[in-house]
Amino acid sequence: MASLIILLLVISTAFAAIKSDGSHLSVTDFGATGDGRHYDTTAIQQAIDACAAGGGGRVRFPSGGKYLTATIFLRSDVVLEIESGAQILGGTRQEDYPKESARWYVVLAEKVKGAGITGGGEINGQGWAFVVRPNPKKNIMVSWNATGDCLGDECRPRLVGFIDSTDVRVWNVTLNQPAYWCLHLVRSSNSVVEDVKIYGDFNTPNNDGIDIEDSNNTLITRCHIDTGDDAICPKSSTGPVYNLTATDCWIRTKSSAIKFGSASFFDFRRHFYNNITIFESHRGLGMQIRDGGNVSDITFSNMKISTRYYDPSWWGRAEPIYITSCARDSSSKAGFISNIKFVNISSVSENGVFLAGSKDGFLRNLKFKNINLAYKRWTNYTAGLYDYRPGCQGLVKHNTAGMMMEHISGLEIQNVSMRWSRNGFKGWNDPLQFKASTVDKISFHDWSSDVL
Ligand SMILES: *[C@@H]1O[C@H](CO)[C@@H](O)[C@H](O)[C@H]1NC(C)=O
Ligand SMILES: *[C@@H]1O[C@H](CO)[C@@H](O)[C@H](O)[C@H]1NC(C)=O
Ligand SMILES: *[C@@H]1O[C@H](CO)[C@@H](O)[C@H](O)[C@H]1NC(C)=O
Ligand SMILES: *[C@@H]1O[C@H](CO)[C@@H](O)[C@H](O)[C@H]1NC(C)=O
Ligand SMILES: *[C@@H]1O[C@H](CO)[C@@H](O)[C@H](O)[C@H]1NC(C)=O
Ligand SMILES: *[C@@H]1O[C@H](CO)[C@@H](O)[C@H](O)[C@H]1NC(C)=O
Ligand SMILES: *[C@@H]1O[C@H](CO)[C@@H](O)[C@H](O)[C@H]1NC(C)=O
Ligand SMILES: *[C@@H]1O[C@H](CO)[C@@H](O)[C@H](O)[C@H]1NC(C)=O
Ligand SMILES: *[C@@H]1O[C@H](CO)[C@@H](O)[C@H](O)[C@H]1NC(C)=O
Repeated sequence: MASLIILLLVISTAFAAIKSDGSHLSVTDFGATGDGRHYDTTAIQQAIDACAAGGGGRVRFPSGGKYLTATIFLRSDVVLEIESGAQILGGTRQEDYPKESARWYVVLAEKVKGAGITGGGEINGQGWAFVVRPNPKKNIMVSWNATGDCLGDECRPRLVGFIDSTDVRVWNVTLNQPAYWCLHLVRSSNSVVEDVKIYGDFNTPNNDGIDIEDSNNTLITRCHIDTGDDAICPKSSTGPVYNLTATDCWIRTKSSAIKFGSASFFDFRRHFYNNITIFESHRGLGMQIRDGGNVSDITFSNMKISTRYYDPSWWGRAEPIYITSCARDSSSKAGFISNIKFVNISSVSENGVFLAGSKDGFLRNLKFKNINLAYKRWTNYTAGLYDYRPGCQGLVKHNTAGMMMEHISGLEIQNVSMRWSRNGFKGWNDPLQFKASTVDKISFHDWSSDVL
C-alpha cells in the first residue's frame, strides 16, 4: 500500500512537472534518491523520456546527489544538466548494462539529434571497482567475457557514448574514472566537446580520453585530459574520420596524447590540432596506421610537448612525434600518410622523432617548420628500443636517433633545431638516421643539432 502511494505520488509529481515545465525536469521529481546506494535508473530514464516526449529540454541532477544508475539512454534534444556537486555514478555489475557489449555505456545516446551533457557536475564510472589487482606498472582489470559476447581482457563498460548521432554537445562537465574508454563518438557528425575535464586512473589500461570513431565534423576545445591511455584518439572501423579539430587542450597520458588508430580501416582527412600542451606523456603526436586506411591533410601546430619513458608494457617509447604505417599482420594492408604539417612545436623528450612508413605504406610530403627538439634522459627506464607495436616488427633493439626515418617520399625541414643534453648520452647515436634507399625528396633549410 505504502509503495503504491509513493508510486502515485511519483507519477502525479511527474505529470505536474511535465505540465508546469516540460523543458526543465529534475530527476528527483521522478523519485531519484541521489543517495549513491539505491539505483536511480528508472527515475532518471523516466525523466529523460518525459523530457523528450515534451519536445526536449533539460533534465536536472540537483547538486549534492550521487545518482547511481545502470545504463541510461539519452534522447533527441534532451540535455543532462548535472549540477556542480552532483554525480552520476555508473553501475559496476554486468547486469547494469545491456546484453550486447557494444552498448555498454553508463550514458548512451543512439541515433539522437541535438542531445547534450553539461551542468558543471560529474559522471563517474567507478573505475576502481574494476581493478582486480592494482599494479603501478599496469593494473590487472576485470573482464566481462564469460558470456562470450565480448572476448579477451578488454570487456568493460565505457562511460559516455554517442552512436549514429548528430549535433550533440558535451560541455562544462567532468568525466571521471571510466572503467574503459571515456567519451566515445561513433558514426556521428557535428559534435562539439568543450570545457570538458577527463580523469582516468593513470595505471588502468584502455581508459582512453576521447575516441572519435567513424565520425565527421568534430570540434574538441578547452579540454583537460589526465588518463592512462590514449587521450584524443581518432579511429576508423566502418567509415572515415573527416574534419576533426582539437584546440586549446592540456593532456597527460601513459600512452599517446593524440593517436590516429590503431583501428585504421578507412581514411582520416582534414584534421587540425592546435595549441595543445602535452605533459610527461609516453608519446606526443602519434599515428599507428595498420589496416589500409590513408591519412591526409593533417596539421599539428603550436604545441608544447614533454615525453618520458614509462613501463614498456604500455605502447610508446617517449617519442614526441611518432608516425608509422605498416600492415598489422599478413591479412592487413598498410596505408599512405600524406601532407602532414608540424608547425611551431617545442618538445623535451627522452627519445627521438620516429617516422617509419613501409614498402606499401609510404609517408609522403611531411613538413616540419619552426621545431625545437630537446633531448635528455631523466627516468631510469631502459632506452634503445624502436616500437613498431601493435603488430609489424614489434620492439626492435636500436640506438636512439634524433630523427629516425624510413620509407618516406618528400620531407621538408625548415628551421628545426635539436639540442642534446650532455648527460645521459649513452645509447644515443646520430642526430639523423635514415636508410637512404627508402627516403627521397628531402630538403633541409636551417637545420641544426647542438648540445644543450
Ligand atoms: C559550468 O557550470 C557551472 C555550474 O552551472 C557554472 O557556474 C560555470 O559558469 C560553467 N562554466 C562554463 C565554462 O560554462
Ligand atoms: C577473460 O578475461 C580474463 C582476464 O583478463 C583473461 O585472462 C581470459 O583469457 C579471458 N577469456 C576469454 C575467453 O576471452
Ligand atoms: C563522413 O563523410 C564521408 C565523406 O563524405 C562519408 O562517406 C561518411 O559516411 C560520413 N560519415 C558520417 C558518420 O556521416
Ligand atoms: C569538411 O569540411 C569542409 C569545409 O568546411 C566541408 O566542405 C566538407 O563538406 C566537410 N566534410 C564532411 C564529410 O562533412
Ligand atoms: C591555449 O590553450 C590554453 C588552454 O590549454 C589557453 O589557456 C590559452 O589561452 C590558449 N592560447 C591561445 C593563444 O589561444
Ligand atoms: C589508400 O590509398 C591507396 C592508394 O591510393 C588505395 O589503393 C586504397 O584503396 C586507399 N585505402 C582506402 C581505405 O581507401
Ligand atoms: C607559428 O608561430 C609564428 C610566430 O609566433 C606565427 O606567426 C605563426 O602564425 C604560427 N604558425 C601557425 C601555423 O600557427
Ligand atoms: C625558428 O623557430 C623558432 C622556434 O623553434 C622561432 O622562435 C623562430 O622565430 C623561428 N625562426 C624563423 C626565422 O621563423
Ligand atoms: C633513478 O634512480 C636513482 C638511483 O636509484 C634514484 O635516486 C632516482 O630517484 C631515480 N629517478 C627516477 C626518475 O625514478
